[in-house]
Amino acid sequence: MTIAIPDKISLALLPTPLQLLNRTSRLLGGPRIWVKRDDLTGSALSGNKVRKLEFVMAQAIKENANVLVTCGGVQSNHCRATAIAAAQQGLKCHLILREEPTGQFDGNLLLDSISGAVISRFPKAGFSARLKEYFNETVSKYEQQGEKCFSIPTGASDGIGVWGYINCVNELLRDFEFHGINPKTVICATGSGGTQAGLTLGFHLAQSEIQVESFAVCDDAEYFKNKVKTDVIDCSRKYSVPVEPEVLKIQTHDAYIGAGYGLANEDVFKTIALVARSDGLILDPVYTGKAFYGLMEEIKKGRYAGQSDIVFVHTGGVFGLFPYRGQIENTLNH
Ligand SMILES: Cc1ncc(COP(=O)(O)O)c(C=O)c1O
Repeated sequence: MTIAIPDKISLALLPTPLQLLNRTSRLLGGPRIWVKRDDLTGSALSGNKVRKLEFVMAQAIKENANVLVTCGGVQSNHCRATAIAAAQQGLKCHLILREEPTGQFDGNLLLDSISGAVISRFPKAGFSARLKEYFNETVSKYEQQGEKCFSIPTGASDGIGVWGYINCVNELLRDFEFHGINPKTVICATGSGGTQAGLTLGFHLAQSEIQVESFAVCDDAEYFKNKVKTDVIDCSRKYSVPVEPEVLKIQTHDAYIGAGYGLANEDVFKTIALVARSDGLILDPVYTGKAFYGLMEEIKKGRYAGQSDIVFVHTGGVFGLFPYRGQIENTLNH
């Protein structure tokens, strides 16, 4: 059976560059760290979600939807990307947002509003348990007015969304060839699991030995094993992808989450400052900064000894920095 690759629309500026983090790599004394610059998939419409939305929105348009409904934390990068992409395509967007301490009118939330998304905010307590209800209420409100909604799950992580990173694997393999490198490990932050699922499945389908290692920003390794498998099974069923999820080696580090989702400690802010100062690369406190901190700790422990090149996928998130200005200022002044 041939794989039925889904349609996509063009939203991301691709291919993104693969760049060497020269000075940071030398400072850490481990393998050379190459960065896949998916923070450069666009300007405000940027980050890993843009790759996923190319496929998800193609499906929404195919189904004649005129309203995209999705959800996330109040500073969700996914929600911001969806709001901007919806505006670009002439669609409406409704965001179901979970309150977090970073809920000021700033960063992603500010961009959501500028882009015209309709925003509903709900308390953090009980949010997951009531999410389905929030979606149903929102969708039925639009449908009563004769509009057609397309619901996108958290982080656009499902059988369609994973195509964004299955596709990225082909780009990465071309990058490796171009730079003459042969990395054994590709690193990314994982939150809703779709980037991890797409990369893991993508390298498997390309018959590559490259191991994807993800650093969790919430939930434990067991959770991500199940979530990745669920997305892979969904993808395999919808698009006739020949894969037995049991054969995939799903690797997640869950020791660097700290106090929880969206809660970053001094180590993470110091990591962000170190990489910004040594190579001019800006990471964020919720995803890429945490993952990079974890990567640095693992390098120190000698995990990648013997590997000359390693790849870190920069999944974006710069707007998430701004609501943390107080903590960043404190860290930099000490
Ligand atoms: C900047 C950034 N990096 C990484 C992730 C994690 O990606 P995923 O949700 O596909 O696990 C997200 C979204 O959750 C994100 O916004």
